[in-house]
Amino acid sequence: MALPSFSGRHPAYHCGHTTPIVSVSTAGQVAPKPTATSTTASTINVADKVYKTDKWFNTPKNVLAAASRKLHLQQDHPICITRQIIQGVFPEPSFTYYNDLHPVVSVHENFDSLGFPADHPGRSRSDTYYINDSTLLRTHTSAHEAAIFEANKSNGFLISADVYRRDEVDRSHYPVFHQMEGARFWDRSQVAGGDIAAAVWADVEALPKHNIQVEDPNPPFHSQRNPMQTAHHSPAEAEAIAAHLKRSLELMVVEIFTRAKAAAARRDAAYKDEPLRVRWVEAYFPFTSPSWELEVYYGGDWLEVLGCGVTQQSLYINAHQPQKLGWAFGIGLDRIAMLLFNIPDIRLFWSKDARFLSQFAGVSEHLESLMPFVPFSKHPECYKDVSFWLRSSSSAGGNLAGNVHDFHENDLMEIVRSIAGDIVEDVKLIDEFTHPKTGRRSMCYRINYRSWERTLTNQETNEVHLEVQKALVQNLGVEIR
Ligand code: DAH
Repeated sequence: MALPSFSGRHPAYHCGHTTPIVSVSTAGQVAPKPTATSTTASTINVADKVYKTDKWFNTPKNVLAAASRKLHLQQDHPICITRQIIQGVFPEPSFTYYNDLHPVVSVHENFDSLGFPADHPGRSRSDTYYINDSTLLRTHTSAHEAAIFEANKSNGFLISADVYRRDEVDRSHYPVFHQMEGARFWDRSQVAGGDIAAAVWADVEALPKHNIQVEDPNPPFHSQRNPMQTAHHSPAEAEAIAAHLKRSLELMVVEIFTRAKAAAARRDAAYKDEPLRVRWVEAYFPFTSPSWELEVYYGGDWLEVLGCGVTQQSLYINAHQPQKLGWAFGIGLDRIAMLLFNIPDIRLFWSKDARFLSQFAGVSEHLESLMPFVPFSKHPECYKDVSFWLRSSSSAGGNLAGNVHDFHENDLMEIVRSIAGDIVEDVKLIDEFTHPKTGRRSMCYRINYRSWERTLTNQETNEVHLEVQKALVQNLGVEIR
């Protein structure tokens, strides 16, 4: 099973670009356009709070409904168990836990406070669920960093929460998933002689050791590729914080994967253990510098597990804590839980089926009893194709030149998901071409319908597929071929 990017899974959060499959009118704040699933209600309830909507509103009902589920707080749920395991590595009271922060945040909190540029594609309505022009469903737990720095409760915190992104449909993507954000910082005014580097190194020494193989070929910072913040930190400080960050996160990975292997061995006596290998890869995030991703060698592949770095000093300065400095990370819980429990499909987390949930009963209280998931009957798949001509630029409006279309794949994904719900397993582009004479563009998608809970009849699937096609015509202006 290929499980790429864990922390953010969206390349835009790393390197600042997305790859729409056809050109779009703008990056960043694209012009509002009605979508299939948004209603025109003027107020909306999200997890017990009421918000005013406007023409930016683009959040479908199924996504709004998920905002009250809080799987990370549901005892014995795999997402909750994964949170508990990571919390064990970062104990209270050194780390304050924030596990019930409301999912609706401001554009400022989610993007501006973290230094995201105004034209960052993550801000677009094709990537992000908006409530109105200044309010959205958080796309990452980093949205809460600034407020927690400002609250200044302790020198560390962990935030666990549901996060929301418009994305593709397959077994490892769901519009709602879960992240954990962690941060640790030091206060110059509380350290003897202000020698933060010495204090941080002393804290590194106090951390437990591990004996896993770590590949870390790059220097702690690099003036071009991965710069330290020369205006704010000395090289010794940057190096000490990087060392503390890396050891802390390596210990977290050891904890998770040791438990995953022990669980696999409990299930299968013939399970063959292989030594854990991790590697540090240079990265970019707007709110850290230097930055890294941590990858783990698992099941024959390097898997990106988390993003992290030395926190941009501007965050502390804006939070009126200019004397602080430290590190932060973000990790995706769903994919870690899929590995820990050997869960093959992200939709299962949302299932209320006892055949799923009962398998984890008692584990929150006894983490050592964790066992891999045993799939219950896998029902047959039923796939249907849909081919259509894209609306051309003239009927799409705007001043688009030539054969440019305003099609965003995420819009299609969302229409399918909001009509078919959790009976859609994945949606894949299987063919596209441009007509040589007319310049019209045709796409063909294959929609795979399969429920974890029951066998779908062909008639039922046909009916759903027909509804999907109607919605595509209505909302994207495509012409079915
Ligand atoms: N928020 C990032 C994402 O969703 C992950 C991340 C990266 C969080 C680096 C951090 C960090 O705190 O320091 O992709």
